[in-house]
Amino acid sequence: MERTPFGTAPGGQPVDVYTLTNKSGVEARVTNYGGIILSLRVPDRHGRFDDVVLGYDSLAGYLAESPYFGALIGRYGNRIARGRFTLDGQQYTLATNNGVNHLHGGLKGFDKVVWTAEPFENAQGMGLVFTYVSPDGEEGYPGTLTARVTYTLTGDNALVFDYHATTDKATPVNLTQHSYFNLAGDGKGDILGHVVTLNADRFVPIDPTSIPLGDLRDVTGTPFDFRRPTSIGARIRQDDEQLRNGQGYDHSVVLNKSGASELTLAAHVLEPTSGRVMEIHTTEPGMQFYSGNFLDGTLKGKKGAVYHHRYGFAMETQHLPDSPNQLGFPSTILRPGEHYRSRSVYSFSVSAV
Ligand code: BGC
Repeated sequence: MERTPFGTAPGGQPVDVYTLTNKSGVEARVTNYGGIILSLRVPDRHGRFDDVVLGYDSLAGYLAESPYFGALIGRYGNRIARGRFTLDGQQYTLATNNGVNHLHGGLKGFDKVVWTAEPFENAQGMGLVFTYVSPDGEEGYPGTLTARVTYTLTGDNALVFDYHATTDKATPVNLTQHSYFNLAGDGKGDILGHVVTLNADRFVPIDPTSIPLGDLRDVTGTPFDFRRPTSIGARIRQDDEQLRNGQGYDHSVVLNKSGASELTLAAHVLEPTSGRVMEIHTTEPGMQFYSGNFLDGTLKGKKGAVYHHRYGFAMETQHLPDSPNQLGFPSTILRPGEHYRSRSVYSFSVSAV
């Protein structure tokens, strides 16, 4: 595995890029700054490789402004309403960084810290073990949280994310990966033609500040019904209150599961012009499907790419938003002595048609 310097983080720590490869020529470049996936090169149906994730060429790009391109998210993926929650009778106040709400771990979430990286190779493939110890009180969260996240590039073209955490005080934890994909190739156009299938009968309706209303809604008859393959663009402009509230798709779907924490299919995505397919399996109960609604052409990415509206989409496997305040949702509270464990697998292949 190749390791090259990528610059210096604002705290003075050196940052590196690690290049993971497999025998099919798939290549993932990953940095220990924020656990960011910088590039991911996978073949199309003719064997031509392209980078299928959005991002920047240099660390400076990520430091200047990034809507979480490629990043590892923690302590809490998505929003916590007003940055407040009560746990065991005590109220906690978190940093607010998205209007009045807390988003993706706060002002300096796990996407902006330097992780310790340990490369490994095993029978499955090669990868990195990232470790970060988040101090008690960081961004307002209780407890020292020790997070360990393993990225593996397998021999059969999958990226596997294994998350583990322990704490010394009860705290919410909801880790995820925030890569923006464009399976036609980074910067090559919008993602509206991608054909998506989601294994979800229900989704989480939100208010205009993207906080869950509290119910889990049946997707039947709504633009959120992706149980049959449907392009992202097919219904995105429909006059629908939920699409208005998210300014497009920016919602968690509730994955169909027979038992908690099994690794099951979440999503299948086909990009018809290249034939590239991405399939996601996860142990998580939900997945945030974000159609890149806030990209507006102001960010200039890799090799001069301009990220216009909906040039990338994210599929963030995770627990549901605002769970610390939504007592009907699966719990995201980790207690001392418990182990947070979560696995998500993003597999890449091609379709002949
Ligand atoms: C959120 C969006 C947000 C985006 C980038 C997504 O996970 O759901 O609302 O704009 O991340 O920050």
